[in-house]
Formats: sequence, structure tokens, C-alpha cells
Amino acid sequence: MIAYASRTGNVRYIVQKLNLPAIEITKDTVIETPFILCTYTDGLGDVPAVVQAFMEQNATLCKGIVVSGNSNFGLDVFGLAGDKLASDYHIPLVRKIDLRGFSKDYEAILAFYNDCVKEDDYETILEVK
Ligand SMILES: Cc1cc2nc3c(=O)[nH]c(=O)nc-3n(C[C@H](O)[C@H](O)[C@H](O)COP(=O)(O)O)c2cc1C
Repeated sequence: MIAYASRTGNVRYIVQKLNLPAIEITKDTVIETPFILCTYTDGLGDVPAVVQAFMEQNATLCKGIVVSGNSNFGLDVFGLAGDKLASDYHIPLVRKIDLRGFSKDYEAILAFYNDCVKEDDYETILEVK
């Protein structure tokens, strides 16, 4: 599962490219299957409020973080939301993407997903059966 937040459409575009099961989060979303979080960066390197609230409830099943930012904000804060989440919750930062990124970014995310999330999805489905 991919859980994502997108304000102006870049993260939504990235998620659509991945062609994986996905859900756009609200602050009240609860996910009960392993997932990768995809988020944008707000303020000056800030985690969006909706993502902060979501992660307070769901971080345990989060296997990796993908962040989109804009490198024009400066390297100090480029995609910093992803670094902050990775550090706060001890979750790997899978990819830092400039705006919508490139196919090599999507390939890297898919490789991580297949290694670390897909198998878990499968186990969850088996348990339900
Ligand atoms: C108000 C505002 C603040 C932003 N602050 C940052 C920032 O500090 N660092 C960064 O890398 N990108 C920053 N960005 C850029 C967005 O994170 C980037 O455009 C991202 O791709 C947006 O994803 P979305 O289109 O899915 O909302 C900011 C964008 C806006 C509108």
C-alpha cells in the first residue's frame, strides 16, 4: 500500500506512475497494512500537518518514506520533511524527489516496495483468508 499526501499534484502524479494500491490520507486515516508514505515538503523543510497527524497514528506499519520537494528552496531544506520523518520514526528514507522526479526515481521506489512491502501485503491477505 502507498499512503500519500499531495497539495499541488506532484506527489499524486508520482503515486499514479507507481501503479500500486494507494490511498490519499487525511489526519484521521488509519491503515492496517504495511505501507510506504509519500509526502511533500511544506514551510521551510516542514512535515505537512496532515502527515504529522497521520503518522502519529500509523507509523508502526510504515516501512519507508518517499518525499518530494523543490531543490530551489535550497539544499538545507530540500525534501527535509522526509529526513525529519525518517529520523523521528526510525524509518528508511527511500527516495528524495525533486518535484515529480524521473523514471529512475519510480524504479527505485518500486524495487524497495517489492523487497520490503509487497511480501507483507501478501501475508496480510493470507491472514484475512
Ligand atoms: C508553501 C510551500 C512551501 C514549500 N517548502 C518547501 C521546502 O521547504 N523544501 C522543499 O524541498 N520543497 C518545498 N516546497 C515544494 C513542495 O514540497 C514541492 O513542490 C512538492 O513537489 C509538492 O508536492 P505536491 O504537488 O504533491 O503538493 C514548498 C511548496 C510550497 C507551496
